[in-house]
Amino acid sequence: MIMPAKTVNDIVALCKRRGFIFTGSEIYGGMGGTYDYGPYGVELMKNIRNAWWNAMVYSRNDVEGLDASLIGNRLMWKYSGHEGGFSDPLVECKKCGARMRQDKMRDQTKCDNCGSTDLMPPREYQLMMGLTIGAVSDGEINAYLRPETATTTYINFKNVLDATPHKLPFGIAQIGKAFRNEISPRGFVFRMREFEQAEMQYFVRPGDDERYFEMWRQIRIAWWTDVLGIPANKLRFTPHEKLAHYAKAAGDIEYEFPDGFDEVEGVHNRQDFDLGSHTKSQDEFKINARVMKNTDSTVKLAYSDPQTGESFIPYVVETAMGVNRAMMALMLEAYTEEQLPDGKTRTVLKLKPQLSPVKAAVIPLARNVPELLNIATDIENELRKLGIGRIELENSGNIGKNYRRHDEIGTPVCITVDHQTLDDNMVTMRYRDTMAQVRVPISDVAKRVLEVVSGLC
Ligand code: GAP
Repeated sequence: MIMPAKTVNDIVALCKRRGFIFTGSEIYGGMGGTYDYGPYGVELMKNIRNAWWNAMVYSRNDVEGLDASLIGNRLMWKYSGHEGGFSDPLVECKKCGARMRQDKMRDQTKCDNCGSTDLMPPREYQLMMGLTIGAVSDGEINAYLRPETATTTYINFKNVLDATPHKLPFGIAQIGKAFRNEISPRGFVFRMREFEQAEMQYFVRPGDDERYFEMWRQIRIAWWTDVLGIPANKLRFTPHEKLAHYAKAAGDIEYEFPDGFDEVEGVHNRQDFDLGSHTKSQDEFKINARVMKNTDSTVKLAYSDPQTGESFIPYVVETAMGVNRAMMALMLEAYTEEQLPDGKTRTVLKLKPQLSPVKAAVIPLARNVPELLNIATDIENELRKLGIGRIELENSGNIGKNYRRHDEIGTPVCITVDHQTLDDNMVTMRYRDTMAQVRVPISDVAKRVLEVVSGLC
């Protein structure tokens, strides 16, 4: 029997029901474009981050990590070009007051909400969230929440270069929150006002940039297929038709969401725009330094070749992924509804075990039976010692309900302790995807769980 196509609403419902994602500020009516991650969402996000960090930092010898502040000096965001230029065209409906992003409107002559053609002319709407920091603040914006991690990496380029033995090419990776005052957050966690990025800036010699752009484009697509397990036919790379003024080449890795292909990661050749503009800003800064305290910094974000002594501003190839979008794509891909022989439907999240929020669940068949609970607790402790992630013990005595819950959160294997275990020291291992049940000695459980989690079976 053909099951109905999955929709974003299926994922939204599962996320709420099983504790992956909740609405931000929920009991106060919500806060548009913000979400809170519950127990299983936290684990899944952490596993995606780790998978990215493993590939981008630990598996390589040319990429370092960084975790920069989310709050940044206004000047940094002025010279990065964001204060003057990071905006979207906003259109307001005179009739119903709806505010829309012009480039995302269904028909640019009509209000998306009420259909009226009585619209205000578009105006540029600043996407950065301004802050007034410090007790002496006079109410003027003197800082911003960062709208991307990249700029905070560029301004640390020299710090990292000086503190490590790297020569070009090398990269700096960063995972962290970014904030954008999006006009119309949409698509669940697809477009939020507070979200998470995993970005890597790769510094290269001018002239090498095209080669490294192509290298990173391929590495990143391969990560989506090989590490996250997204089928290649659900991904595509779309070069930008209109390049930003600083970009020499740019494109998006897109995933096929239920409504069509949309961006999950960008790959950009930013040339020397960013390091160059933060270097040029330092001249202006030098003048300001006479009147501003604590600004003796006149840093050149340049690279000196140790062999030739030549000094130049490196080019940057950037990979910029949205972690929340990765989680959404992953859940959409893994979400499966299956018709069982008894006519019932089972929902199962077929995540790769390495990414599953819970690695194994131990389930005594009956509730509060001390003999069964003791054995289950011993197995639970043994599995915890493996250090593979979250292990759960269920003591509700409702095995059917437990299996359903763990299928829905994507737990790859459940271990059931029953009365026969007391006689033969064997337990039942039940595998999520096949529902196959195998009787194994307790002494084999840890080894088998390790095999499952490392993808060996
Ligand atoms: N440093 C470059 C940069 O920030 P971007 O295309 O604006 O590039 C990179 O953002 C990625 O961040 C996007 O591909 C997307 O996955 C994610 N992203 C951007 N805005 C987002 C939002 N409002 N909500 C969720 N994810 C977002």
